[in-house]
Amino acid sequence: MSKLLIANWKMQLSRKEALSLAKKLKARAKKCPAKMVICPDFLSLQPVSASLKNSAIELGAQDCASSNRGALTGEISPFDLRSLGVKYVILGHSERREKLGENEALISAKIKAALANRLTPIVCVGENLAEKEAGKAKSVLVGQLRAALKNVKIKSANDLIIAYEPLWAIGTGQAIIPAEAEIVGNFLTVEAAKILQKRVRVIYGGSVDSQNASQFLRQKHLAGLLVGGASLKEDFYKLCC
Ligand code: PGA
Repeated sequence: MSKLLIANWKMQLSRKEALSLAKKLKARAKKCPAKMVICPDFLSLQPVSASLKNSAIELGAQDCASSNRGALTGEISPFDLRSLGVKYVILGHSERREKLGENEALISAKIKAALANRLTPIVCVGENLAEKEAGKAKSVLVGQLRAALKNVKIKSANDLIIAYEPLWAIGTGQAIIPAEAEIVGNFLTVEAAKILQKRVRVIYGGSVDSQNASQFLRQKHLAGLLVGGASLKEDFYKLCC
């Protein structure tokens, strides 16, 4: 199976910029041996979805609501995302956990709602610097996995993806050493399998760039990359070349 190269555009681009970048990447996608997934912000999803028709690039959202309909002011229904052609959804990103106060119960409910709508959740987990320095990374990761995946049922190993994103590596220019990410990738695969009874894919995210991407993509237990800053440029596709 080809590796995943997932762009998390966060709230960094205007609609015009997002559409323009999507069109450029569409033209480049054939040169990329990995499966490219673009996650624009909600307002850009519709125009980007239309522009990606007949391309190899797939679409992801950066979040979704925990139910399809309801009195949930400001939320975006996973049913409507699916109707728009969205196939993946990033859930539990550390920026939402830390800055927007998302808790484990909500993240878990969102994962279930996404799966019920045939969206593939990309479930983010990661330790912060203090936890890493205290030698608690593994226990933090297991705690996050157990909380997020509680009572989650998947039919196939492809139905869910775990993104290992150490908080200290996100947007800092200081990525983890690829060999260390590989060890964590293996660890998370095993721990997630204990909960889900399936060996789901684990990807890495945090300061991935043109210098280090190929080293991460070479690792056996890393099925791909979740990329923020380096996904905002046309040469994003080169990360997998
Ligand atoms: P970064 O972001 O590549 O800019 O570190 C990754 C992410 O937040 O998913």
